[in-house]
Amino acid sequence: MRLLFVGDVVGRPGREAVEALLPGLRERLDVDACIVNGENIANGVGITPRLAERLLAAGADALTLGNHAWRREEIGPYLSSSSTIVRPANFQSGSPGRGLTVVEARDGTPVAVVNLLGTLFLDPAHSMWEVVDELVTEARETTPVVLVDVHAEATSEKVALAAWLDGRVTAVLGTHTHVQTNDASLWDGTAYLTDCGMTGPHDSVIGVRTEIALRRFLTQLPARSEPALGDVRLEGALLECDAESGRATRIETFRRQA
Ligand SMILES: [Fe+2]
Repeated sequence: MRLLFVGDVVGRPGREAVEALLPGLRERLDVDACIVNGENIANGVGITPRLAERLLAAGADALTLGNHAWRREEIGPYLSSSSTIVRPANFQSGSPGRGLTVVEARDGTPVAVVNLLGTLFLDPAHSMWEVVDELVTEARETTPVVLVDVHAEATSEKVALAAWLDGRVTAVLGTHTHVQTNDASLWDGTAYLTDCGMTGPHDSVIGVRTEIALRRFLTQLPARSEPALGDVRLEGALLECDAESGRATRIETFRRQA
C-alpha cells in the first residue's frame, strides 16, 4: 500500500497548496492513506477546527500536530471529539485529545498514527521515551501499519527514535524543522526521514516572512510572526509498505511546486 505524509502546512499558502494539489496527487500517485501535519495552518501558528476540516476535506485521512497545538484555544474541544487528529502523546495527560489514532486507508487497511514531541527547546510534559513503547504496543494490537510523526528540533532525538522503533513501526517521520532532509532511508522494515519538509512559502525563514525573522534576530525585539507568500511548495514523503506485515518497502521525499 502507498502512504503519503505531507510535511508541516504553514498558513494560508500552505493550506491552499494542499487544497489545490492533494486531491489530484492522491489519484495520480495511487495513495491509500494521507497524513498531514497541520500544527501551523492558522496564520502560521496553531490550528482551528474549521481549518482542520478543510485539510480533511482536501484528502487528509489524519492530521498530526506539535508544539503549537494549543495556540488556538478552540482546538481543545475539537480534539476531544475527533478521531482523525492527534496531538503529541507526551503532552500532559489532562490535555484534550489523544496521541494515537487509527484511520482506515482506501484499501481498507487500518493505519495507526502516533504523534510525539521531542525534548530540545520544546518542553514536553513527559519525555517521549516514557510513552512510546506503550503507544506502539497499543497501535500494533489493532494494525501492523504504524506511522510515527516525531515533531522535534534535534536530529539526534529523531534518529535515536527510529533506531529504537526499527522493525516495530512502518515509519518514523520527522517534522517541525521545516527543511526537508536528504536522508530518506529504509531500515529493518522501518522507513525513516529526519524532516519531511514544509508545505508552504519557501521564500521565507522556515515559513515566516524573511524581514520579520531577520528583525527579530538582529534586534531581539518581539515581532508578530506572519507567514510569507512566495515560492509555495507541497513537501513530504511517499512510502510503500506491506499491508500484512506493516514493513516499509520504499520511501522517497516528495516535492511539488504549487
Ligand atoms: Fe513545531
